[in-house]
Amino acid sequence: MADTFDVVVIGGGPGGYVAAIRAAQLGLKTACIDEAKVSDGKPALGGTCTNVGCIPSKALLQSSEYYEHAGHGFADHGIKVKGLDLDLSTMLKRKEKVVKSSNDGVLYLFKKNKIQFFHGRGSFGKSPNELLVGGQTLQAKHVIIATGSNPRALPGADFDEKLILSNTGALAIPDVPKRLGVIGAGVIGLEMGSVWRRLGADVTILEALPAFLGAADEAVSKEAAKIFSKQGLKIEVGVKVGRIEARKTVKVQYTAADNSSKTLDVDKLIVSIGRVPNTEGLNAAGVGLKVDDRGFIAVDGECRTNLPNVWAIGDVVRGPMLAHKAEEEGVAVAERIVGQKPHIDFNTVPWVIYTAPEIAWVGETEQQLKARGADYRAGSFPFMANARARAIGDTSGFVKFLADAKTDQILGVHIIGPFAGELIAEAVVAMEFRGSSEDIGMICHAHPSLSEAMKDAALAVDKRSINF
Ligand code: FAD
Ligand code: NAI
Repeated sequence: MADTFDVVVIGGGPGGYVAAIRAAQLGLKTACIDEAKVSDGKPALGGTCTNVGCIPSKALLQSSEYYEHAGHGFADHGIKVKGLDLDLSTMLKRKEKVVKSSNDGVLYLFKKNKIQFFHGRGSFGKSPNELLVGGQTLQAKHVIIATGSNPRALPGADFDEKLILSNTGALAIPDVPKRLGVIGAGVIGLEMGSVWRRLGADVTILEALPAFLGAADEAVSKEAAKIFSKQGLKIEVGVKVGRIEARKTVKVQYTAADNSSKTLDVDKLIVSIGRVPNTEGLNAAGVGLKVDDRGFIAVDGECRTNLPNVWAIGDVVRGPMLAHKAEEEGVAVAERIVGQKPHIDFNTVPWVIYTAPEIAWVGETEQQLKARGADYRAGSFPFMANARARAIGDTSGFVKFLADAKTDQILGVHIIGPFAGELIAEAVVAMEFRGSSEDIGMICHAHPSLSEAMKDAALAVDKRSINF
């Protein structure tokens, strides 16, 4: 007899595990299938985000930033560090501990919420309501697919995780490479490039587009380009990558922006040119599940697939590949299953890039506003003029508000600077409540705090900034 569930979730990443918890909270009999495992074969719940994404990358970003501060930043504060030494093995082990505690956290939450967990690869059986996992058959009234994404490889340069690295290998290089190449100056390229540069690698990033961070506000990406190049990250834009040869080192032939032919010779190469949705082994075609021409599971605005009672969320469907976007969709789908009417505003999904300085934004960029002919006003405030930033000793970057010229409603907020990833939350709240720049400008912000830069930038929209 097959086990019967109200909801079976395939995939235990931030989309899937959050969907399962919310479904269980709503009284639904819920199971989650996930195949990820650690080296001893035990489950590694939490998906890409926990195992080889958000969590380990942020652990290494933090450790490498401390190392850089100890080597270069503390002297300014009058702190002399003698005999500074890098113990990379301990740094990597610490990262693994952080990952494991997150894996265990999800397992604990499953137990707490009485979610039945099946460890193995899940696939559709004879019908969309029948799921197979490790020789067992489950019957599900509703199925939520949350199978995530995989790194995209360059043609002719498969990942071996020794010389040519995806995010998985990039998070576990056992010795700091002397010369590290990165293809793609996107989010992973910049974050992982920063980690290994801080630890001592000579990092060159090759980017196909004429500018990098195209999704960010132009003022932010220009500032980022200046700051990153000062830090020593070499970013070459407008290149066309050709043949890649991996023997003892990796030789990347490419055409530079000026049309000259060049070769980059590096000890390791990270390829971070985007990710592809993962539907491998699901038997999607067998049950008639519609997949679009880019491999994403086709869904409507509410994450419904073409099959009744089959839903899909997270990286495997359209929209930004972000953990918090996957989580919001997971919660919303569970609530829709019980007849509730949740709403996700994709315009208020924030982006954070955890470089130093951090980059964060929400809403529209200035170039998007110009492209749609919007009547808007802009206000910016540099961290140099913020007392807390000066006290911390991190004055790079700025906050920029964009607001409707007539109504003053906030249309976008763009930050490059210290703790941008935390500061952006205020802008998200304001935009969710359809707040105006004046609303933020009128709110009392603690002094001295970085959040005062938000207030000052909001006031700058009306040319009323106090401190600049
Ligand atoms: P995933 O997290 O990919 O989880 C899918 C799960 O499903 C996996 O555990 C997989 O093993 C399992 N699975 C797949 N198919 C099957 C099957 N048939 N049967 C059983 N199990 C299956 N996002 C952020 O918001 N912030 C960040 O800081 C951030 N940093 C990142 C850093 C890196 C290096 C990378 C690669 C990504 C990062 N992301 C970040 C993106 C984030 O990891 C993804 O958007 C998020 O993990 C997507 O969640 P998901 O639940 O859709 O899928
Ligand atoms: P990305 O889409 O952020 O960047 C890929 C970059 O590679 C782009 O700039 C693109 O123009 C470039 N590119 C593509 N093909 C190329 C080629 N042949 N040669 C040279 N350059 C090429 O993708 P990335 O960095 O792989 O990350 C994948 C996704 O993971 C991100 O889009 C994001 O959704 C998620 N992520 C989120 C993080 C965060 O929120 N902090 C951190 C890391 C990843």
